[in-house]
Amino acid sequence: MKNRVLGSSNLSVSEIGLGCWQLGGDFGPIDESRATEIVETALQQGITFFDTADVYGAGQSESYLGKVLAQAPANIKIATKYGRGPGSYPDGYSVTDLRDSLRRAQDRLQRDCIDLIQLHCIPSEVMQHGEIFDWLREMQQEGHVSHFGASVETVADALVCAAHSDLASVQIIFNLFRQRPIKALFAKAQENNVGIIVRLPLASGLLSGKYSSTTTFAESDHRNYNRNGDAFNVGETFSGIEFSKGLALVEKLGVHKPNDYTMAQFAQRWILDQPAVSTIITGASSAEQVVNNVSVSDLASLDADVHDALFKLYEDEIEQHIRCDI
Ligand SMILES: NC(=O)c1ccc[n+]([C@@H]2O[C@H](COP(=O)([O-])OP(=O)(O)OC[C@H]3O[C@@H](n4cnc5c(N)ncnc54)[C@H](OP(=O)(O)O)[C@@H]3O)[C@@H](O)[C@H]2O)c1
Repeated sequence: MKNRVLGSSNLSVSEIGLGCWQLGGDFGPIDESRATEIVETALQQGITFFDTADVYGAGQSESYLGKVLAQAPANIKIATKYGRGPGSYPDGYSVTDLRDSLRRAQDRLQRDCIDLIQLHCIPSEVMQHGEIFDWLREMQQEGHVSHFGASVETVADALVCAAHSDLASVQIIFNLFRQRPIKALFAKAQENNVGIIVRLPLASGLLSGKYSSTTTFAESDHRNYNRNGDAFNVGETFSGIEFSKGLALVEKLGVHKPNDYTMAQFAQRWILDQPAVSTIITGASSAEQVVNNVSVSDLASLDADVHDALFKLYEDEIEQHIRCDI
């Protein structure tokens, strides 16, 4: 597994990290033994960067992760989030609320100091107002967090956050369906030394190419209850692409895939080929998926003409189908 530096934090993070939303049960029910197996496999495979949030399974993801990583060496880094919990979102933000939320996260993660705290898709106005970044600095000075960053929905929000010179990272949706950051964000992020954490690399699994028109998801799976944005931002589940449209587009993207890559490897290799990207936090619902995802770090880069063809496909046939601000 290769490592990259996460922006101004100077943290060394594995190119493939582990997204831990799945450990909270929002991709269908998960018990502690499967969650433990996924995290232990990630550690064995060289993953050193884990992304979770206080709200994933109302703390379950942080708790499961904290248990497995309690004795982990110092190079294992955990990023969690603040800002979507009850009492916080959408307008309950204060330094006291932040401090209390961090204390609860520290307990669940079994860590006195959190490596990276990220604002969790908070309203744009709160980011623009900016006082919340001073509270994050206060938490850093008090030793509750080592670094702070922001997870955002749009490139516009990413640019607002990236203007803070001490922001370590921006977490954004970036995948073959959501290519806008290449031209609209990455140069600025590199100039400001802001790390890019890529979420939804597989568009909630759609870009793995394994689903069909008959695929169904569990009742508690957001790919069932939020596929059209009924519970939260329509741009999150399947990256904002309507499911059947996404299936058709995966076929078109797959035409450019090298024969010896799986679709999931192809989609992730395309992301790692972007030098602005620090790490990809692919979510996994099994240990086998973790192993497959980790393999991408050692695969050869895609040819320049493949990148060009994929960008053209995005501009001509994909961008128009994304059902949210990007
Ligand atoms: N607002 C935010 O800050 C925010 C929002 C969303 C996500 N995130 C973070 O980003 C992480 C990644 O996003 P995500 O999990 O939503 O989407 P994702 O990584 O694009 O997709 C994950 C899903 O892809 C499938 N998959 C993974 N590896 C595979 C492989 N090798 N072969 C075939 N299928 C594979 C699995 O689907 P099945 O379960 O169907 O097998 C898995 O549940 C999350 O875990 C979370 O940490 C943050």
